[in-house]
Amino acid sequence: MTYETLRLTVEERVATVTLNRPKALNALNAAMLHDLEGAFATLAEDSAVRVVLLCGAGGKAFAAGADIAELAEVDAISGERLAGRAQRLFRRIELLAKPVIACIDGFALGGGCELAMACALRLASERARFGQPEIKLGLVPGYGGTQRLPRLVGRGAALKMLLTGAMIDASEALRIGLVDEVVAVEKLMERAAELAKSIAGMPPLAVAAAIEAVGRGADLPLDEALALEAAAFGRLCGTEDKREGTRAFMEKRSAQWVGR
Ligand code: CAA
Repeated sequence: MTYETLRLTVEERVATVTLNRPKALNALNAAMLHDLEGAFATLAEDSAVRVVLLCGAGGKAFAAGADIAELAEVDAISGERLAGRAQRLFRRIELLAKPVIACIDGFALGGGCELAMACALRLASERARFGQPEIKLGLVPGYGGTQRLPRLVGRGAALKMLLTGAMIDASEALRIGLVDEVVAVEKLMERAAELAKSIAGMPPLAVAAAIEAVGRGADLPLDEALALEAAAFGRLCGTEDKREGTRAFMEKRSAQWVGR
């Protein structure tokens, strides 16, 4: 499958999706939203893919936000429609049964930071920079930023970014919990591949259940969230992989997962 604004490759159970509009710092335009919808629908169906890496082409940006030239033409009605469309796409990415790992080198701003926040994990290079500069355009984030940012970093740190529009560097992003690891630029994809390989070797139904329990449970009242967890635990207890995993432990050998 080829895309106008993305590159998609698959190698040994790990897919790499590269946002590919480097001349516009990989800004998310309508064509890229369309391509991301298609690519993630394909990846959801592809049982050979266990982990997805999401990166930006060009070495300067993961993504510098929604495309401002397009935003300039958006009015009240089309703006709400656009936000809803991107939010649905990002939620599908967040709940995809296989983890998406954002590999952030350079700018992750506005919609780019929001896309990274919808991923299961965020790895950043030392030169990554983050921000929600929408306020400087007379806007608020529309692709989930006002909601995912405080959930990740807390209310104060989120409002500081949302109200000032100021950028933070990778070490500050790590300190406040916006990213999970910071590595040297030249090690970013190596570390991402290592992490992807380790998760790709885990039983897929349990991986999917962990993503779903966290992704759906985090915002439920605790008792409802615990019921969701108990249901997932029960479902997994009925799988061949659970039988294999517990047996392999007792027989002191590595487990052979079948994904059932
Ligand atoms: N949309 C469209 N084009 C963009 C863009 C964006 N978000 N960000 C950068 N570009 C383009 C620039 O216009 C420029 O194009 P030309 O070469 O044709 O002039 C090219 O990418 C390179 O950018 P700069 O020359 O500006 O590069 P720089 O190194 O001087 O600055 C930057 C880099 C600080 C990231 C700066 O480009 C910038 O501030 N970009 C905008 C960031 C932003 O405001 N993002 C939020 C968008 S709104 C949003 O995302 C809403 C939402 O929640 C959905």
